[in-house]
Amino acid sequence: MSELNNIALQILSNGKGILAADESTGTMTKRLEGVNVPSTPENRMLFRETLFSSACMNDCIGGVILYDETIKQISSKKNKIPELISSMGPHPGIKVDTGAKVLAGSPNEKITEGLDGLRERLKEYQNLGAKFTKWRGVYSISKDYPSKLTLQSNAHALARYSALVQECNMVPIVEPELLMDGDHSAKDCYQKTSEVIQKCFDELIIHKIDLKGIILKPNMILAGNRSKNKIPNEEVAKLTLDCLRNSVPSEVPGIAFLSGGQSEIEATENLNLINKHNDTNFIMSYSYGRALQQSALKFWSKNIQDIEGTQKIFNHRAKMNTLAAQGKWSKEIENQ
Ligand code: 13P
Repeated sequence: MSELNNIALQILSNGKGILAADESTGTMTKRLEGVNVPSTPENRMLFRETLFSSACMNDCIGGVILYDETIKQISSKKNKIPELISSMGPHPGIKVDTGAKVLAGSPNEKITEGLDGLRERLKEYQNLGAKFTKWRGVYSISKDYPSKLTLQSNAHALARYSALVQECNMVPIVEPELLMDGDHSAKDCYQKTSEVIQKCFDELIIHKIDLKGIILKPNMILAGNRSKNKIPNEEVAKLTLDCLRNSVPSEVPGIAFLSGGQSEIEATENLNLINKHNDTNFIMSYSYGRALQQSALKFWSKNIQDIEGTQKIFNHRAKMNTLAAQGKWSKEIENQ
């Protein structure tokens, strides 16, 4: 087994998933201000440190994605953050793209930047303890989008990123996210997600990526958030499985979904149904940001010194998703 394949499996085996705590300072500021907590480096650290030292880190979380600020921070107990995370069990990871910018030639769409100087930044992150990385390409869905141009350019960037990451002996998370915003149908989401993922793999193969040493982070197949034709969760699970079965090469060891604006329970329930019906060889787990942190953040914001209470909520959410990643979650267990 290759070293990269081994790391990917360690991150996702036995129902483990990924905590996406890689919100940029801008996004984290929105999240904190949304619950009336000032966004200072200390507060950003305190919330994250509270999550990173929770009990579920040991049995539910296999990897934590960090942002540049966090990977360089020191905890209140004077631990380096990547060391705190690995001492709890998970592998530390790092978001390495520098964000989505307007795509010249198709100004309603975005292209993710961050390739310049990436080889050097990867070395720095590796020296700080990172074992895996993340890059997110973002696509909107409508009649004309995603365009051929964004399909091609984001897939190309994801492949060049992956090649540099594997050259540096880390596992790239490949994240093509088709946004939930809009009134598109689930069928549109299915078709466009299939096209995007297939294009990404075409490029990954051209760039000679070892597919056994990556993790795919896709969206689930959902109707748009303004669609009048929502589909039942069972259907979400079936369409998602169908789409991935037909567009992901069998070498890929694991798929870890983003939550993308689903509620915490919805994201858990859909993951559970996907695993109940999973007839593929792919591990199907989670790499959630909002769907793992929302309730914990809300509780924490009321009293930022209540570490134990915040951790209890976060532990529960992680445990529920780890059960869902094995098809063992139920509403009864959720509410026990
Ligand atoms: P959400 O689960 O909140 O969508 O975040 C996951 C992520 O990492 C998006 O890039």
